[in-house]
Amino acid sequence: MPKKTFYITTPIYYPSDKLHIGHAYCTTVADTLARYKRLAGHDVFFLTGSDEHGQKIQRKAQENGVSPQEYVDRIVASFRHLWEKMSVSYDDFIRTSEPRHHEVVQTIFQKIYDQGDIYKAAYEGWYCTPCETFWLERQLGEGNCCPDCGRPVELLKEESYFFRMSKYQDRLLAHIEANPDFIQPTSRRNEMINFIKGGLEDLCVSRTTFDWGITVPFDTKHVVYVWFDALTNYITAAGFLHDRGKFSQYWPADIHLVGKEIVRFHSIIWPIILMALGVELPKMVYGHGWLVMEGDKMSKSKGNVIDPLVLIDEFGADAIRYFLLREIMLGNDGNFSRGALINRINADLANDLGNLLHRTVNMVGRFNGGVVFAPAEREPVDDELAKLAQTTAAAYEQAMERLEINAALKEVWALIGRANKYIDETGPWALAKDPAKKGRLNTVLYNLAEVLRIVAVLISPFMPNTTPRIWRQLGLAGDPAAATLDDAQRWGALPAGTKMTAPEALFPRIEEKEEAAEMDEATKKEPEAAPAQPMTPVLPEVSIEEFAKMDFRTARVLACEKVEKADKLLKLTVDIGGEVRTIISGIAMHYAPEDLVGKDVVMIVNLKPAKIRGIESKGMVLAAVGGEKLALVTAPGMPPGFKVR
Ligand code: MSP
Repeated sequence: MPKKTFYITTPIYYPSDKLHIGHAYCTTVADTLARYKRLAGHDVFFLTGSDEHGQKIQRKAQENGVSPQEYVDRIVASFRHLWEKMSVSYDDFIRTSEPRHHEVVQTIFQKIYDQGDIYKAAYEGWYCTPCETFWLERQLGEGNCCPDCGRPVELLKEESYFFRMSKYQDRLLAHIEANPDFIQPTSRRNEMINFIKGGLEDLCVSRTTFDWGITVPFDTKHVVYVWFDALTNYITAAGFLHDRGKFSQYWPADIHLVGKEIVRFHSIIWPIILMALGVELPKMVYGHGWLVMEGDKMSKSKGNVIDPLVLIDEFGADAIRYFLLREIMLGNDGNFSRGALINRINADLANDLGNLLHRTVNMVGRFNGGVVFAPAEREPVDDELAKLAQTTAAAYEQAMERLEINAALKEVWALIGRANKYIDETGPWALAKDPAKKGRLNTVLYNLAEVLRIVAVLISPFMPNTTPRIWRQLGLAGDPAAATLDDAQRWGALPAGTKMTAPEALFPRIEEKEEAAEMDEATKKEPEAAPAQPMTPVLPEVSIEEFAKMDFRTARVLACEKVEKADKLLKLTVDIGGEVRTIISGIAMHYAPEDLVGKDVVMIVNLKPAKIRGIESKGMVLAAVGGEKLALVTAPGMPPGFKVR
């Protein structure tokens, strides 16, 4: 029977600079999906690479006094190094400067020209070089800036080749409407539908003012527009021209995973190129959110980038991968903070997972000489645990198939939490003291080892270096890389008689004290003496029942703007854990709207709604207030909807 195949791509990265943790987010997600599909038995083709042409790269090379090829060679080597450190298991790394790619781009450019869908005309328009994007005058932002990145655009006047995008507008719209999965998530699909309905212009697909690119085969003064060139990488690597067997096996791609700002290129320009070629469209373009730092997209121009290599050296690749995959809901933006990363490492990895493994291996060593004996006496709590392990594996699979990767991790951690509780409930140390309870002890220890075996398999797409470490400690035979999803769904597959090895800490706790000291160091510059406040009288007592009526929770600020003609008011859009609300808050004198986006605040969500300046405000953010001072109560890194007590 032919194996199921799965073709997943990341964008190909611009070698214009070092990659930051935001770029690594995209590749980590793609790697996890690729690894998951392999676990589920698919024959996976996972592609990443580098997008090496264009004016931006040519200018950078000039600034550095080297040829563009020398310049990109150096940076691309650093990409590969990073992916290796992040354990990214790509099957092919495509570089657009490779001959195999040049041939494909020239072939398709010629074909589309021959059929009349590319034509020559005079071009006058606005070009953003950092984004390598053409804009119409009406699309420009304030002060003639790029509407995407806000940087100045240049007026270009050149003779160019144009791609007849307009001809395909209706077909593309019909395709998007007939295939709800083609653009995901739904919010981006709707954006794209509106964009197309606004009318597609023909696209300028060649340039003459620089030469670092792929030459137009029939007019060598021109190089192919970098997006036309770059998007084509997905079929070059799949073997479009050079390996038809491979191409028919893997094409159409199952997922193009891209950041939200480049969904437009992937869901409009790319499908129209494919339509013009008569090639099937990819099954899905998924636009993920951005990694933000205190509400701002992480980017070199904003000076808020974090080098993934520095983080990996400090915390290890698996901890970083876990954080990115657990903390951010695919499709949404996610906040990166060192504090939130350390919290996750300490709570989820050192505490929950690390302790379960450590306690289990330790008890098997102390009570049974390291041997996991066959289970003997069963009690209902054992069946409950076994059942949960099986339902976890099934729920995990469903979540992964829906691309809800953080939900899949939550399922696994619920099982880990249950197993830790099972230790407390069954009390193996007490059972070990009573020879008559030997059978019961063996059952408990077997069940714990079995949960850990299943957990090790399920987390392998997320933390590929942790699985073999758990495997070794459990004393399991065989290569964990050969384990399958079926293995995780079979309770009782751990062979009785397995001999464990000595316990070893998986994720050492990150000492809060050191962190606190560092934070103190960082904040030392402005020691603020607390102004003496007169003691506010304590209000009359409330009972715990009365207190419990107030629904305090964590909430994440998704958007924020000033309320017109109201100096003190801000309008916040907040996620309270599955529901998005609008609230008006009188904090505009203390916070700028952009400071709040991405913040994890604390709210009361069952306060009677109030209309403020005609806007219904549902709930209130909590803040410490005294005199002129005000500080929001925050819960950095806590996902929205968590109870605050
Ligand atoms: N070269 C183009 C892609 C061409 S694909 C045919 C490009 N390159 S890029 O290097 O600028 O960006 C690569 C990917 O990194 C994009 O998907 C982009 O969204 C992603 N990210 C860049 N910064 C990011 C964050 N701060 N957070 C999440 N993803 C980020 O675009």
